[in-house]
Amino acid sequence: MFPARDRSSPASLEYSPAVARATAPLYERVARVVPEMEWPIHAPYIAAINALKRDLNAVILAHNYQTPEIFNCVADVVGDSLSLAREGAKTSAKIIVMAGVHFMAETAKILSPEKTVLIPDARAGCSLAESITGADVRLLRQRYPGVPIVAYVNTSAEVKAEVDICCTSANAVQVVESLGAPEVICLPDEYLAQYVASRTKVKIITWHGHCEVHERFTGEQIRLLRQGQDNLVVLAHPECPQDVLAEADFVGSTAGMSDYVGIHSPKRVVLITECSMSDNVAIQYPEVEFVRPCNLCPHMKRITLPKILHALETMTTEVMVAPEMARRARLSVERMLAVGLPRA
Ligand code: 13P
Ligand code: SF4
Repeated sequence: MFPARDRSSPASLEYSPAVARATAPLYERVARVVPEMEWPIHAPYIAAINALKRDLNAVILAHNYQTPEIFNCVADVVGDSLSLAREGAKTSAKIIVMAGVHFMAETAKILSPEKTVLIPDARAGCSLAESITGADVRLLRQRYPGVPIVAYVNTSAEVKAEVDICCTSANAVQVVESLGAPEVICLPDEYLAQYVASRTKVKIITWHGHCEVHERFTGEQIRLLRQGQDNLVVLAHPECPQDVLAEADFVGSTAGMSDYVGIHSPKRVVLITECSMSDNVAIQYPEVEFVRPCNLCPHMKRITLPKILHALETMTTEVMVAPEMARRARLSVERMLAVGLPRA
């Protein structure tokens, strides 16, 4: 239990015996992946964040790419982009802190305009979200009149406001097929769009955005990894290039990969995605061996425990979306949520 504290003074960040005792059960959760010598650095922040969060009626939503001490020790809701959007909309808390990137915080604000949504570092962007603007979408509409436009949630509110519906990596195929159109524009991730095209008869028009983390993986890397490891199971995120997906045993969202490990219990697995993902899944499934080539997302890694504490102490940085833009963007996100959960 983390006692409430007097908020007129800054949190004490000493690793006192009381903090050590209060956080010991949390350390047990992450002991497999967080070295013991690091715990005295994290524990005072974890204790302060958990006390303040309760005091303020705040919740922390954490994406699967957050570091294990954030994901396992201060987050209230964890998951992929789809579940963070769903659960963020359901929470009764007044304040949402997004331990993720800016488009995720914007999506939470779009769905809960009455709530205060904070991002601990406003510079936590995304190369996909930055690859396209609302003006680009308007030009696409002129070029392809009548063709429905699906935007990956990894886009700004401005882009969401211009499109017909959103999708995530977990439901992209279903969303595209729900439109009943022979041709669909799927933006901004070229590789996700190519993956969708490989799974549907709908003709897909793509944009040229890429995830700077997943585009660095290559098919050659996967073939080398498999050499001498007959039983290696390769799970890849659909933001990876096609030659990587062709080498994978399973392609899915971050939650899809985690579920795959839970359902199939592979002896040895590699997750072709962001590095923290393997740490967080390894904690859940200690019997599985994780092979670790991975790439770091510099945007996700901008979120740290000290910045989460600072966000709660100062109520910064608040994410705002202009009401009319939020209204139009909300329609796109809500249409996606109405499509239903993907099949397991
Ligand atoms: P998921 O929706 O699969 O969690 O992916 C989000 C993301 O940013 C992947 O790079
Ligand atoms: Fe964006 Fe890629 Fe980072 Fe995900 S991993 S937030 S898609 S840059």
